[in-house]
Amino acid sequence: MTNRKPWLEQLRRKCIIDPIVNDRRSVNGTRLGRDPGWIFSHAIGGGQADFDQPIEELSPRDRVMLYALFNQKAHIDELIHAFDQFFLQGVESFHDATVIDVGCGPFTAGLALANVLGSRAAYRYFGVDRASSMLTLANELAAEVRKVGEFNDRTEVSFHKSIDEISFGNPRAAEMTVFVLSYLLASNSVDVDALVGEINRARGRIGLGQTVVLYTNSAREGARNNYPKFRERMIEAGFKEHVRETERFQDTDKPRDIHYALFLRPAVTTFSMSEFLA
Ligand SMILES: C[S@@+](CC[C@H](N)C(=O)[O-])C[C@H]1O[C@@H](n2cnc3c(N)ncnc32)[C@H](O)[C@@H]1O
Repeated sequence: MTNRKPWLEQLRRKCIIDPIVNDRRSVNGTRLGRDPGWIFSHAIGGGQADFDQPIEELSPRDRVMLYALFNQKAHIDELIHAFDQFFLQGVESFHDATVIDVGCGPFTAGLALANVLGSRAAYRYFGVDRASSMLTLANELAAEVRKVGEFNDRTEVSFHKSIDEISFGNPRAAEMTVFVLSYLLASNSVDVDALVGEINRARGRIGLGQTVVLYTNSAREGARNNYPKFRERMIEAGFKEHVRETERFQDTDKPRDIHYALFLRPAVTTFSMSEFLA
């Protein structure tokens, strides 16, 4: 069972599945000339590859397309489920929210959010990824979402190499900020101290509203190594861990165990100059 809408299935077919299946290298049951086992462990590296580097005869573009084909769909399903829960009480409080998708890959959380919200709310989405090849595909997929009318006209989407380089404009008074960390923390390339520092600086620069951090990851032992330190740093930064669960995730083609957590930092109600200067 999946909650992906028909437009999202069509978009993935047009931009990801068909280009790979119709590629002249995809013969004899291979994808781009490689079998799925090699692709998963080498081209995608369990999701943690350096996607800007070619590998053997595959280009960075091939690698991100293969990531989108093999890994992205299940992550979209998990995030659709998470956003569905998030918006159970309605979407009003989400209007003009700021969303920062850290390690966004090929616009994974952006697609899930558009699937759940469509044009019902306007927000600004910032995708952040160290890999330019990921950001290129992400940008193309976001343009397709715009084309099929699944963004509000006032929704803004942009992509960046780091959180610190984003300019958020004038500080906001009360609008919500949501950080999404979907399968980012499995990566050894992530410096947890630096990541929490960037999240906290961005939160201070964005404004005074409530901040929510949604973390998802595989429940595999190795994938969770970074979590205890991340949790500790987030709590030091003034966040409260609201939920942390491992659960069997069913709303997808191949059910599997996932680890997710939600951190909250309430709106700043007393004006403090240090909030802006931090
Ligand atoms: C497993 S993928 C997850 C992609 C997407 N969030 C999803 O759920 O499909 C991890 C992503 O994080 C990016 N990444 C790894 N280390 C990073 C870092 N230090 N800063 C930003 N992005 C990073 C990778 O390039 C890759 O796109």
